Amino acid sequence: MTGSGSTYVQGIVDATGVWPAVNQIEAHLLLPQDDLVAYCKEHNVHITAYSPLGNNVFGKPKLTNYPEVQAIAQKLGATTAQVLIAWGVYRGYSVIPKSVQQERIVSNFKQVELSAEDYEALFSDRQEGPDAVQHPEVSATTNPKVK
Ligand SMILES: NC(=O)c1ccc[n+]([C@@H]2O[C@H](COP(=O)([O-])OP(=O)(O)OC[C@H]3O[C@@H](n4cnc5c(N)ncnc54)[C@H](OP(=O)(O)O)[C@@H]3O)[C@@H](O)[C@H]2O)c1
Repeated sequence: MTGSGSTYVQGIVDATGVWPAVNQIEAHLLLPQDDLVAYCKEHNVHITAYSPLGNNVFGKPKLTNYPEVQAIAQKLGATTAQVLIAWGVYRGYSVIPKSVQQERIVSNFKQVELSAEDYEALFSDRQEGPDAVQHPEVSATTNPKVK
């Protein structure tokens, strides 16, 4: 299933008796969806994060331009997109960036690993500040401990 908050997941379970295998949801630095991620993990529903580079966010700078993302990318010798992808991987789910450019497709597949320190540095107060994105079903929360 896709884009489903816990109420919808539970509705599927109640109606069919079957837990979905995968929930594909928008998730990135400005929309971490901690509560939904934790709920899915608790019930063994795999998360796949779409728009991990923040392509679905309008009226805000591109996530690849955020200074803290650029700082970690520079530190790791990585691209900013690789850092944003690694942020999702660090949180324990699969991530599906999209590009129409061959060199970006190739480089987006190259995994870099964030340390806990890198992850915390990325998990700034943007999630609760004016940059935060409110999901229609599940508000972004601020628990940086989801892993
Ligand atoms: N299940 C759903 O409801 C749902 C909803 C939305 C999206 N999705 C899927 O999720 C995937 C990704 O979503 P998305 O396209 O919305 O967002 P995204 O992957 O967060 O962002 C894509 C944007 O980032 C650019 N980009 C890609 N690699 C880059 C890099 N290395 N450096 C800088 N910019 C880069 C792309 O431009 P270029 O193409 O020019 O490189 C494009 O403008 C797609 O496969 C889409 O089908 C699923």
